[in-house]
Amino acid sequence: MRAALPGAGSVRTVTGSGAFRFDGRVPGDKSISHRVALLSLLADGESRIEGYAPGADCAATLRVIEALGARVERLAEPGALAVTGRADAPLEAEDVLDAQNSGTLARLATGLLAGAGRYAVLTGDASLRGRPMGRVLRPLAQLGARTAGRAGGERLPVAILPGALHPGEVALEVASAQVKSAVLLAGLFVEGEVAVREPAPTRDHTERLLAAAGVAVSVREDGAGRRIALGGPARPRPMRWRVPGDLSSAAFLLAAACLTGGEAVVRGVGMNPGRTAFLDVLQAMGARVEIADAADWQGEPAATVTARADDGLAGTAVGPVGIAAMIDELPLVAVLGALARGRTEVRGATELRHKESDRITAMVEGLTRLGVRCGEYPDGFWVEGGRTPRGGRVDARGDHRVAMAFAVLALGCTGPVEIDGAEAADVSYPGFWNDLGVADRSLR
Ligand code: S3P
Repeated sequence: MRAALPGAGSVRTVTGSGAFRFDGRVPGDKSISHRVALLSLLADGESRIEGYAPGADCAATLRVIEALGARVERLAEPGALAVTGRADAPLEAEDVLDAQNSGTLARLATGLLAGAGRYAVLTGDASLRGRPMGRVLRPLAQLGARTAGRAGGERLPVAILPGALHPGEVALEVASAQVKSAVLLAGLFVEGEVAVREPAPTRDHTERLLAAAGVAVSVREDGAGRRIALGGPARPRPMRWRVPGDLSSAAFLLAAACLTGGEAVVRGVGMNPGRTAFLDVLQAMGARVEIADAADWQGEPAATVTARADDGLAGTAVGPVGIAAMIDELPLVAVLGALARGRTEVRGATELRHKESDRITAMVEGLTRLGVRCGEYPDGFWVEGGRTPRGGRVDARGDHRVAMAFAVLALGCTGPVEIDGAEAADVSYPGFWNDLGVADRSLR
């Protein structure tokens, strides 16, 4: 058989081999990395970034900020960068900007560029071109942005036309940190106050990082939810950023340990309260989760997280409240449910259908192929655990988190699991196979 190279649609076979143990760090947080790169573009002078996420998504962000006028120097230490922005940077690229697979980059860059009031065209790969953009363009239009996009403004490629935005308050249609951040980044260029109301709390990295870089952000909770506002024009200042490990990457290792009777200790990992609900789910399922070494990294909490489940796991019900704080970990909840005693159910998670793949269908289809009893709801899924899956072949559907979730499940199956499109893991976690201890298994 001809060898398929990673990136050319590789199949990876993963076989369980006893208790999974890990003690170390995971790559830098993807959400924070995108944001500190964009803030460094806007800052006048040199910023230093330590621990920048190594995946393909954040590499795309570096190419975008370079195209918009930042100088990016890769330093000797892995993940270390010097990024120089200029107050008078044109913020206008010579060509179409390519966000590749990254929804966060596409949404945040759209907000930033609409605020800057420059002409820009953004596109992405086939997966990203199928994901919604109207949720970003509509709030920006309320502030005066003139944009156009395929499918009536719903899909990339999107064009942003020159023009200044005006102050205002927008209420978001969906609880999305990406959309909230797009509006706040646009607000940096507006003469006056720009405010955003979110229907449910989402990760607040943009608010914290802007505040750390000297931009005053006000946050108010009232009967109508959370209102976040900033007064422009404002520029973040150059910073020395230190990016904590990505809890969404750590989650795979914590789950692998809990499923196999092992233990995972992940150090220096981000603990933004808008991201930690998966740890509560692990605990609700019977795992022991410990948090130590709590620290503050430029306004972002970080800690050492340890997880183990000596007595196995029990099924649980998740959502609809709090779904946003574990949205990227829900494929893993399906995996945990498949190996737990009893039934696991997730509701209120329609957003899962708009990620790098339709993650509800991707997980239910893959689990079914492995012999797990499960099904879809319009807004979630159910999984009957208790019977160890036999193994088989699944399709990652080009989605990094789906690929990694099935790899974790494989550790608890009786037979090998072949994962089609396993190379997608590189989007957020290039060292994943190594950290999971399956790096040497067949890649063909
Ligand atoms: C992200 C927000 C989430 C999440 C994505 C990263 C961010 O998306 O799924 O992986 O960095 O703001 P939504 O805000 O669209 O839910």
